[in-house]
Amino acid sequence: MQKIAIFASGSGSNAEQIATYFANSTTVEIALILSNNPQAGVIARARQLQIPVVLFDKKTFYNTSKITQILQNEQINLVVLAGFMMLIPEALVRAFPNKIINIHPALLPKFGGQGMYGHFVHEAVVAAQESESGVTIHFVNEHYDEGTIIFQATCPILPADTPADVAQKVQALEHKHYPAIIAKVLNS
Ligand code: GAR
Repeated sequence: MQKIAIFASGSGSNAEQIATYFANSTTVEIALILSNNPQAGVIARARQLQIPVVLFDKKTFYNTSKITQILQNEQINLVVLAGFMMLIPEALVRAFPNKIINIHPALLPKFGGQGMYGHFVHEAVVAAQESESGVTIHFVNEHYDEGTIIFQATCPILPADTPADVAQKVQALEHKHYPAIIAKVLNS
């Protein structure tokens, strides 16, 4: 059995898509959902999906090895960031080399970096009058949004599109592609 741990800080729609995709798998299991945000929608979704939740605070994440230990004890094969808004500490990156992946709601290297998350990304894309946006799935290193790109998919932006319209198109791409790319990474 290959074991996935999902980190999420928000609504958790991607986490749910991933869990649903692998729900009947005999080879892949979503072993844990971890979050820094006790109010996050992902917590209720995890309970519904009967996936164990680990909540942690900033201090524990950055000043202790507790989270790395939990992942190692659970024998996690792949760490999947799905709307996780904190930088991964260097020690955790080193403990899981090329085994942490992230999805970013734009076409990196454009519109990435600190502060570029969620609606801020789509607002910046519309303000820059881009003709397309999309998703980027990449390996995680110790810098925001800078690891090797695994996959990108694009969607057109029409002149009348609002950031909310772009968010909707990008989310559809995320839900369509992230689970299948995770399966591919696990098999590579
Ligand atoms: C997703 O659009 C994801 O790409 C984005 O947060 C959203 C989470 O949605 N991630 C980032 O912006 C990371 N920089 P969800 O909680 O519904 O899955």
